[in-house]
Amino acid sequence: MSDYLGLFKQELKEGLAEDPKRISSKWFYDKRGDELFVQIMQLPEYYLTRAEEEIFKEQTSQLADSLTGSFEAFDLFELGAGDGQKTFHLLRELDPKKFIYRPIDISSNAVHKLKGTVSFEFPNVQVDPIVGEYFHALEHLKSDRPKAILFMGSNIGNLLDDRANDFLKRLSATMQSGDTLLIGVDLKKPKEIVLPAYNDSAGVTAAFNLNVLERINRELGGDFVVQNFEHAPVYNEEDGIAYSYLRSTKDQRVTIEAINGYYEFSKGEKLFTEISRKYDDAALEVITRDTSLDLMNRFFDEAHLFCDAVYRKR
Ligand code: AVJ
Repeated sequence: MSDYLGLFKQELKEGLAEDPKRISSKWFYDKRGDELFVQIMQLPEYYLTRAEEEIFKEQTSQLADSLTGSFEAFDLFELGAGDGQKTFHLLRELDPKKFIYRPIDISSNAVHKLKGTVSFEFPNVQVDPIVGEYFHALEHLKSDRPKAILFMGSNIGNLLDDRANDFLKRLSATMQSGDTLLIGVDLKKPKEIVLPAYNDSAGVTAAFNLNVLERINRELGGDFVVQNFEHAPVYNEEDGIAYSYLRSTKDQRVTIEAINGYYEFSKGEKLFTEISRKYDDAALEVITRDTSLDLMNRFFDEAHLFCDAVYRKR
């Protein structure tokens, strides 16, 4: 608990000292943020979850075979597991005697709820949850048993390509020859489809983005007046990146007690909170470069909105 607060404070101090100011999207996921993200996944505009769920539902046995076909006993890791809904299709397909499910999430709330639902729905599956962020999770991945790692939901898209590549190199370094990795990515597509996914008409994504300010108020003694900021997403079709910002609607000053910080925001100033990268073959190639991961299979939904790519460690 306390070590995440230290990291939160440190990263916040650094990010708010930059120009433009920024807050990492990894801090979105407190209890309220988890709830809002569950609502996002059900929004008509947010096609990503449904597209990936379709893949997991319609191509379960091919996925299971590609990921764990050659394993006897193994660990099934999931990075950023969230509510685990899509994974349940796979859990149903796998032999519970053969594996331990090890979901990892930065939200201790999400991961403990997940343990509850899995134990209820799959009483024979052994669940061993881990709380931590992705880079921290790498330490937990060192095991002697064969492993399949799930990195779904286009979660990797929160990292810029260099950092994604750096992360995948380190992830690959924890894997042994034959271990497998599934990376789920949202595919590049026109603005008319992507932007509404990050700017839904019900305002849930706006509330999700703004919640990080409320979290800072709650946990770090901030005095953000949330009504003085508005959700401002942008999608750049050329680089295939959706950017989320919080725009200050007036000149204002914010104090954050826990980091002894005073911050001036001018009217119209944009505080940067998230990138959501969209991929094509070239972008996938860039983030997996020099990782010793071989692409084995790619699974698409019917409409080709989303791709689950399976890699095997050389
Ligand atoms: C959970 C990182 C995949 O970027 O699409 C949803 C988070 N942000 N709406 C995404 C998110 C705004 C989501 N990921």
